[in-house]
Amino acid sequence: MAFTIGVDIGTSGTKSLLIDPDGNILAEASASYGVSMPKPMWTEQDPEDWWNAVVKTVRAVVKQSKVSKADVKCIGLSGQMHGSVFLDKNDKVLRPALLWNDQRTAKECEEITTLAGGRSELIRMVANPALTGFTAPKILWLRNNEPKKYEKLRRVLLPKDDVRRRLTGEYATDVSDASGMLLLDVRNRCWSTELLGKLQLDPSLLGTVYESEEVTGTLTTEAAEKLGLTTDCKVVGGAGDCAAGAIGNGIVQKGIMTASLGTSGVMFVHSDQPQIDSQGRLHTFCHAVNGKWHMMGVTLSAAGSLQWFVENVCKELSTRRGTDAYQTVGSEALAVPVGSEGLLFAPYLAGERTPHADPNARGCFVGLTTKHERGHMARAVMEGVAMSLRESMEIIKDLGVPIREMRVSGGGAKSALWRQIFADVMDQAACTINAEQGPAFGVALLASVGIGQYSNIEEACKATIQVVNKTQPKKPAVKQYDKLFPIYQSLYGNLKGVFAEIAKL
Ligand code: XUL
Repeated sequence: MAFTIGVDIGTSGTKSLLIDPDGNILAEASASYGVSMPKPMWTEQDPEDWWNAVVKTVRAVVKQSKVSKADVKCIGLSGQMHGSVFLDKNDKVLRPALLWNDQRTAKECEEITTLAGGRSELIRMVANPALTGFTAPKILWLRNNEPKKYEKLRRVLLPKDDVRRRLTGEYATDVSDASGMLLLDVRNRCWSTELLGKLQLDPSLLGTVYESEEVTGTLTTEAAEKLGLTTDCKVVGGAGDCAAGAIGNGIVQKGIMTASLGTSGVMFVHSDQPQIDSQGRLHTFCHAVNGKWHMMGVTLSAAGSLQWFVENVCKELSTRRGTDAYQTVGSEALAVPVGSEGLLFAPYLAGERTPHADPNARGCFVGLTTKHERGHMARAVMEGVAMSLRESMEIIKDLGVPIREMRVSGGGAKSALWRQIFADVMDQAACTINAEQGPAFGVALLASVGIGQYSNIEEACKATIQVVNKTQPKKPAVKQYDKLFPIYQSLYGNLKGVFAEIAKL
């Protein structure tokens, strides 16, 4: 028997799960950790926290499932994208990793664009413009701001790939996650030596690039002992969490879109060709399907906005014993009418990516009156996130990409209210599937393909993933959101200058 494990190294925690050869999930475990914010709009994590969480959760799923360790044949890794693990010549971490939602690199984005010969040249080389969250600007930030550490820099790895190094001793990555470094020639699925040259970055900083189901190594003796597995256990390329989540939702062909509601929110579509948005509003990255691509738009604070509201603003509620703060706030929001009686929320708590790539953007409630209560604010947060993601969907549609089905996933999609808001704001049924574990499930399936249990990921998804629930849009709500959407869209343009002033304070 051959069992596989999927591991997703997220921002709020790591999830691992173990599946049998038919794709049934036999065990799941998670471990959480914090994000440090040394300054507003800066976010960092210690790679050691990820490693400890991986060891803990993998050991837990092997134990819970009662599967013999020799039968665990392969691991797939997924993780938060873009983060920078800076290593010296002894693989010692030089400083905490900068995360995907860290906004400190605006200057470096300009530097990259200039060195590349302009925005369209950059898009020609790596399919995307320079955005503060991406990895290349982080490398230049280290060079500009911590030159002593930069002198010692020998490798830059993405979060999941640093875990891979500790599992297998290999420096490697997969095409989907590598796309978000802004150093990959996305069309040809290899590092862009052209851009690396222009930025004066040594290609040896980067790991070997693999397709997502390719085997990148096997567990070292030390790692096998730590995890309670054997040195026969392989590790496949895996995927960045967006592509992994899409695989875990069966997005392996045109026409289906995922709306994922994790800390960040992502609208994701499959593409048979590297279709590039010349305006650079959507990201074009390699998909975890061999030889395919995807496009996506990202809202930096999606379920993260609701988490902020419940845990920071309603702090007393979330620390009160015996109270489920999310449930309390959720039922208050349910009692509020569509449109939150004129209260709008823009979810720019960590700046914004799509469609306004602006590190200065800030979150805001607009339209508060004495009538509004906590439930209105909670509902406005959910509606604001949905409208922000609708902006990505509109660009996808503008580019002529067909959308015949929308699958919603991630922690936020567990809320029936949020699913209804999504269906109404997008005017599209919000479907959920039989497995709700997204990225971890996606890479467990890639691991199964890697050891030959399926001939490709399309076949694996077909055999294991079905739609089980559909929340239909309600016409009166659709009409009301259609009226609100342009008003929501106008918020950014009207407040852009204010955001820039606030950022200077
Ligand atoms: C994708 C992105 C986020 C992180 C979150 O471009 O920045 O979705 O991957 O984990």
